[in-house]
Amino acid sequence: MQTFRKKLGIMFFVCSFVSVLLVGAFVNYTVKDKFNKYIESAQEDRRNQIINSLEAEFALEGQWSENSGMSALHEAYMGNYCLTLLDEDKNIIWGMDPYDVRSRVNLDAMPVEDSGVYTTQVYELKHKGEVVGFVEIGQYSALLLTGSDVEFIRAVNNSILISGIITIIATFLLGLYISKHFSEPVKRAASQSIALSKGEYGGVIVGKSQIVEIEMLRNSINTLAEKLEKQDELRKRLISDISHEIRNPLNILQNNIEAMIDGIIPISEKNLDMINDEVIRFGKLLENLNSLNDLENQKTEFLFQKTSLKMILQEVCSKYEITAKSGDITLELFAEEDVAVFADKSKLKQVFINLISNAIKYNVKGGRVEVFLQKINDRPAVVIKDTGIGISEGDLPYVFERLYRDDKSRNKIEGNGLGLSITKKILEYHKASVTVESTVGKGSVFRVIFQAKA
Ligand SMILES: Nc1ncnc2c1ncn2[C@@H]1O[C@H](COP(=O)(O)OP(=O)(O)O)[C@@H](O)[C@H]1O
Ligand SMILES: [Mg+2]
Repeated sequence: MQTFRKKLGIMFFVCSFVSVLLVGAFVNYTVKDKFNKYIESAQEDRRNQIINSLEAEFALEGQWSENSGMSALHEAYMGNYCLTLLDEDKNIIWGMDPYDVRSRVNLDAMPVEDSGVYTTQVYELKHKGEVVGFVEIGQYSALLLTGSDVEFIRAVNNSILISGIITIIATFLLGLYISKHFSEPVKRAASQSIALSKGEYGGVIVGKSQIVEIEMLRNSINTLAEKLEKQDELRKRLISDISHEIRNPLNILQNNIEAMIDGIIPISEKNLDMINDEVIRFGKLLENLNSLNDLENQKTEFLFQKTSLKMILQEVCSKYEITAKSGDITLELFAEEDVAVFADKSKLKQVFINLISNAIKYNVKGGRVEVFLQKINDRPAVVIKDTGIGISEGDLPYVFERLYRDDKSRNKIEGNGLGLSITKKILEYHKASVTVESTVGKGSVFRVIFQAKA
């Protein structure tokens, strides 16, 4: 396996190498092709010049002699041609030695296939429209390059090579930088995931990325970390809550029974009643845990039917009238219009028992509890407002967690921290939501909102 950075770097390098190679080959080919064409046309000109000068000399002298065409000879030397002058009957007047030419031509540097192959071509020499002689032009290569021509080609190739090497080095360095730039956030995300898997939730990945996918990855890992941390905190709280809610009553039972055995407290009816109350309380806790468990594992049966919310609320409020009064708390129901919902009546009653009993339980002397049946955004809603002790901001996110109890309530107010968990679960089955707003010392508002259609 390779690192992301290495892989990216290699890819970058290979791509730039291949493109430099392709561009180099293309430029090389084009330059060569154009240059060869240019040389070919120069050769053509030279040949024409030889023919023209020979014809001009004939026109001047009217006949061929050993000395005819000396200026053409100069042109031939320049172009590395081998000339043979023939009269109209193709008798040789004079001729150059091909071997003499061969020794002067730099054949190795000739970049053509037929380099070194001696070929000749015969051209007619005319005067006043009549053929007066012939010139045979021989050459050792279809393309004859001079030393400076070869030098020029070499210089072009060198500059292609050098610019290629510079480009490759530059892209290599750029590739190193870019691959680091790309791999760094991925690497950070990977090491953050590893930290999360080890249970180290503290860190967040900082530094925004300009790349959408990487930014998405960064955000999702940060959110995951946050959620895991919260989950972990909940788990820890749950364990401590369990020990409070389960171990405490057991301890009380054990201490009292031991005290009776040791004769420290008498085995009186009052003491036995107290122990019995504790057993009953403990039994209730287990029962609630069981029903929450059933709800969570979809083992609870629901009997959905059109249910009047007003009727349920009236029943619950009258059930709690005496309890409220005994605590000097005013309990009032505001339900002008009845609203029907599709619900399991007894489960829904359980929901409002939990919420209204909480509002009374966590209230203060002379406080108020107001229950409103209304519509919020056209949806049936029940709002339970109290003027009680309120819930602190730190506790607010946890009140719906199982066994969670505010430290103020624990040990002082009867309860086991399962009411709101059960409430929330039951409402989930009804596709209804429950939210809470609260201010310490002022009171709380719980809102239950149902789906629009009954
Ligand atoms: N109306 C309320 N006012 C203040 N605190 C509340 C209210 N309702 C619930 N709470 C807090 O939320 C906790 C969980 O409530 P709940 O699940 O009903 O458990 P229990 O009532 O058995 O303690 C309570 O212990 C209390 O701290
Ligand atoms: Mg409760």
